[in-house]
Amino acid sequence: MNVDAPDMLDMSDAESRRQAYDLLGRQWRALIADERDPIANMAQFSALVFQCVPGLNWAGFYLLRGDSLVLGPFQGKVACTRIPLGRGVCGTCAATRQVQIVPDVHAYPGHIACDSASNAELVLPLVVDGHLVGVFDLDSPLHGRFDADDANGLSAMLATLVDGTAWSPPPSKPGR
Ligand code: SME
Repeated sequence: MNVDAPDMLDMSDAESRRQAYDLLGRQWRALIADERDPIANMAQFSALVFQCVPGLNWAGFYLLRGDSLVLGPFQGKVACTRIPLGRGVCGTCAATRQVQIVPDVHAYPGHIACDSASNAELVLPLVVDGHLVGVFDLDSPLHGRFDADDANGLSAMLATLVDGTAWSPPPSKPGR
């Protein structure tokens, strides 16, 4: 497998962003093709996104453990280890299973500040067979950094992660 570092992508306008996520999605499918381990795949996902998506200062997973999210594979500075369900942007995403696009984290009630450099945030749910496994969180120092193009591009990549990974043992108990 070719593990050369892909370059930082140009996402300066809508068309370049669409092309960039198209390319990134193809790179991601190639990267994940021969591996089904969840830790390896989540680690690679975080690294690829952090390496290629411009304007990020953090990218990584929080994984559902009981009633909390616990820090998973990530790229960036050390971060909060546990987040209760329903708290902050990540906990809200986990509780609602809805993508959270936050243009200004300082205006978000209950935002949990892990790095004072962060000004915008995007959090996407990671759902396997109807069970919430965790969330994927991106932080940016740039106000208004994230939009629906980012959410759609990354959601498609997360779908590839879900399909290409053996989530074993089962991600959570029935009924959660
Ligand atoms: N800001 C997040 C906490 C996680 S860090 O950004 C890595 C939140 O409010 O849930």
